[in-house]
Amino acid sequence: MKLTKQFFGRYKNTAVYEYTLTNENNVSLSAIPFGATITKLCVPDKEGKKENIVLTVDNLIDILNHRPFYGATVGRVAGRLSRGKFTLDGKTYQVETNENGNFIHGGSKGLDRELWQIETDEKRGKLMFTCESQAVAGGFPGTMQITVTYTLTESNDWVIDYKAVTDEPTLFNPTNHVYFNLTGDIKTSILKHQLELSSATYVPLDEEKLPSGDKISVEGTPFDFRKEKPLEQAVLSEDDQIKSLNGLDHPFILDQSKDVKGTLYDPSSGRELTFYTDRNCVVIFTHNGAVDDFTIAGESVKPYAGITLETQTLPDAINNRDFGNIIVRPGETFHSQTIYHFGIRE
Ligand code: GLA
Repeated sequence: MKLTKQFFGRYKNTAVYEYTLTNENNVSLSAIPFGATITKLCVPDKEGKKENIVLTVDNLIDILNHRPFYGATVGRVAGRLSRGKFTLDGKTYQVETNENGNFIHGGSKGLDRELWQIETDEKRGKLMFTCESQAVAGGFPGTMQITVTYTLTESNDWVIDYKAVTDEPTLFNPTNHVYFNLTGDIKTSILKHQLELSSATYVPLDEEKLPSGDKISVEGTPFDFRKEKPLEQAVLSEDDQIKSLNGLDHPFILDQSKDVKGTLYDPSSGRELTFYTDRNCVVIFTHNGAVDDFTIAGESVKPYAGITLETQTLPDAINNRDFGNIIVRPGETFHSQTIYHFGIRE
């Protein structure tokens, strides 16, 4: 394992460095302490050509101005929280409503806006980010000590470990908002990628993109990825849920009895990604519109430029029955792990 460090940008007069781990198979992972954000993930294709397979932002100014969430750690609570309201131990809380009257992605001061502390361990291929998240007005109760560790292994796994403690009961449901494009070229859409998911049920969304509260069988719907199929069969379908959003932006409930939760495969490059998680859900967003007007290496970012596999507990879990527990209490340590494994299909 090799670790290098280079200047990335300045945040409030502090120099922000990009750290890159490279393993013996020439797979590399780069991240910055701002937002504990993944900035690059470079993987060889079937010919051995190494390319970046995640959407990235050229500089810190674009991250600050456009907040595209590319590769960012999202929290404390990822996804939408209905009306920014919840009840915990009989007390009702109102957090910020930063999207059409609802709360989304940690609010305006989410974890993707924090400058985290970093510790590195070159030998073990680790980048360890820590931050203290304060209880602030419009935020969640409790001060939390949060650690996000990215490990790159010699077997081509990118392991994400979340650990957190709190001094008051609070909510915690983080994710990483990385967008994959296994072709290595953002001008080529992800529509020809093939997806397989260990998921027999999905959660439909209402007009505000909030979970409706239902869990629907994927059987006979475009949401059925139990057998691998090209993404375009779902993304371009006439299904109301998909058509109204121009693609997927949905929570899929993961089969807890299966170890492998899903596989994404790009036939053109041969690259294959397999993911594992202990969470009950993956939110899949197919980058359904141009996010904003920034560019990546001079190119504007087109719809379907990438796909997220946001592992988390189901969104708005606190306001829906049987969506999973996202409450963390003093004395407990929250721990969660997600693994993305990179390979080549011959
Ligand atoms: C998530 C949401 C999308 C969108 C993106 C961020 O995937 O579900 O609706 O807000 O984040 O651009």
